[in-house]
Amino acid sequence: MGAVLVDREGGAFAVATYEQRFRVWFDYPVVFTRDVFSPANPVLVQVLSRREPERRHRVAVVVDGGLGQAWPGLESEIQCYVAHHTERLTLAGPPERVPGGEVAKNDPDVVLRLQKHFQSLHLDRQSFVLILGGGAVLDAAGYAAAVTHRGLRVVRLPTTVLAQNDSGVGVKNAVNALGIKNLLGTFAPPFGVINDSAFLDSLSPRDRREGMGEAVKVALIRDAAFFAWLEAWAAALAALRPEAVATLVRRCAELHLRHIATSGDPFELGSARPLDFGHWSAHRLETLTDHALRHGEAVAIGVALDTRHSVEVGLLPAADANRVLALLERLGLPTWHPALDERDAEGRPAVLRGLADFREHLGGELTLTLLEGIGRGVETTSVSEEAILRAIAWLRRRRSAG
Ligand SMILES: NC(=O)c1ccc[n+]([C@@H]2O[C@H](COP(=O)([O-])OP(=O)(O)OC[C@H]3O[C@@H](n4cnc5c(N)ncnc54)[C@H](O)[C@@H]3O)[C@@H](O)[C@H]2O)c1
Ligand SMILES: [Zn+2]
Repeated sequence: MGAVLVDREGGAFAVATYEQRFRVWFDYPVVFTRDVFSPANPVLVQVLSRREPERRHRVAVVVDGGLGQAWPGLESEIQCYVAHHTERLTLAGPPERVPGGEVAKNDPDVVLRLQKHFQSLHLDRQSFVLILGGGAVLDAAGYAAAVTHRGLRVVRLPTTVLAQNDSGVGVKNAVNALGIKNLLGTFAPPFGVINDSAFLDSLSPRDRREGMGEAVKVALIRDAAFFAWLEAWAAALAALRPEAVATLVRRCAELHLRHIATSGDPFELGSARPLDFGHWSAHRLETLTDHALRHGEAVAIGVALDTRHSVEVGLLPAADANRVLALLERLGLPTWHPALDERDAEGRPAVLRGLADFREHLGGELTLTLLEGIGRGVETTSVSEEAILRAIAWLRRRRSAG
């Protein structure tokens, strides 16, 4: 254990190093159901009581304001459900609404207000926070809960397509700060996730569609058969047929879950972030457009860009890129935004700063996921801005031709 190190000048230092190592297992159920607050539906009680079935659990509830508007009776439904299961559940306080959408992540007051709320309810590390909402509210309230007492137990009820198929089933949360998307956040696996398909019924067509951007993304990097399914069902998906959307959500969530469990790097300690295919530009476009673009829409553009980028660097056949663009277009997702042409103060394309932000987030060498085939993502560290600019020009030409 003890050692004496001698430096080049002959100075001696006593050194004692203990190699500390332990493993922590995480497990959480992701349950698909319908009408979760119908009193006879056992899913929520089962998820909350899965570790301590005999106990009566204290639950605080956070509700996305947009969701609350679309479901005016929601809070009383939750209260009735808890009253029906009073031997297992008790509400720590009345459900708390927070603004829905990206404002939840942009306004630091939302997190502070929630932390005050949690404290006023005297939540402890065994209390639950049930968060109902889109990806933005799950991220902001999840962050507030993760840093309160170093982590309250969070059960997520994602209520958008994107949140049910991607953000809500994963292990991250974040808020935006200092002009940077997701600058502050934690890795905090939830206690459980419940995807209730009924919530998707009240989404605007735009919000139902945008979540499909992440499905195209994950199909492209992981699963050619899912990509072919998306092509085959494009008309039904574009028409927002509920059974087609439900299948998309389920398969996309499965792929995300499998990646997190089996990639070997669930907490992104390395320099690669394969699930973030297309995201370096997507995050930048969200910021450049002041969030006029939804995350899934920005992802669709980012996917289009890095798909053509893959062609420009000789990885992907041009015909495959045409297939990807055709699918995005058939689904009604955007593949272009004028912000791609914006210049910064030095006259450089403003979107390129996304590369530096992306590298800075992970550290190490800039590593992007590109495509070497449909269903086959590949990591690359040789990033050429010229190739990216050629890809942007190609998207612009395609847009004008269409
Ligand atoms: N943590 C992660 O791993 C991760 C992954 C992907 C995306 N995200 C984040 O998710 C956010 C995008 O989430 P989103 O696409 O769900 O959009 P969103 O959360 O911005 O919600 C969109 C709108 O829908 C409303 N809404 C939510 N549920 C509703 C319902 N059932 N009926 C009617 N309206 C409803 C919201 O109030 C909001 O106005 C982005 O901030 C993105 O960065 C996080
Ligand atoms: Zn995303």
